[in-house]
Amino acid sequence: MPADLDPGVLAEEQKGWERVQRVVCPGSFDPVTNGHLDIIARAAGVYDEVVVAVLINVTKKSLFTVDERVDMLQQVTGQYANLSIDRFHGLLVDFCAANGISAVVKGLRAVSDFEYEMQMAQMNYRMAKVETMFMVANPDYSFLSSSLVKEIARYGGDVSGLVPDRVLGALRERLAEE
Ligand code: PNS
Repeated sequence: MPADLDPGVLAEEQKGWERVQRVVCPGSFDPVTNGHLDIIARAAGVYDEVVVAVLINVTKKSLFTVDERVDMLQQVTGQYANLSIDRFHGLLVDFCAANGISAVVKGLRAVSDFEYEMQMAQMNYRMAKVETMFMVANPDYSFLSSSLVKEIARYGGDVSGLVPDRVLGALRERLAEE
């Protein structure tokens, strides 16, 4: 029986892992919302170390540069001693392997998130035995996404309370330039 089907046996990939529970919260964070922050903060409460990793995606048009997104994340997560911000390109599982990360933490807002998230989780496990831990979103933020925030802000809607105040300022400035 393959090791990954036998609950009592570690797969080859898992044997070399440190038993520090270092996890990654990956995403585009364009920009970080209070929904992201809720998941990030709760992950920092559960795991030893949390790495928030911003995807460098040259094919996707973004409102903020990767540097700006990393900077905003740093500004709003400074209070968590066991949390760091990083960036990555390419496969998430390669970032995990390079950083001794055994699991991905993802927020699930609604059933509609589940299908794609499950597919990615299964693929990441298939590729590199990287686990995915799903955290159920706080209902206060289950309707929230960076895309909606940008759209509402772009047309003059009020997004205060949906993003951290520092992000709110950056959003207003950036959209005023458009
Ligand atoms: O905030 P997003 O854009 O929904 O985050 C999606 C992200 C970055 C988590 C996902 O696209 C990802 O992991 N991309 C890295 C490329 C990769 O590993 N692709 C294969 C996934 S099985």
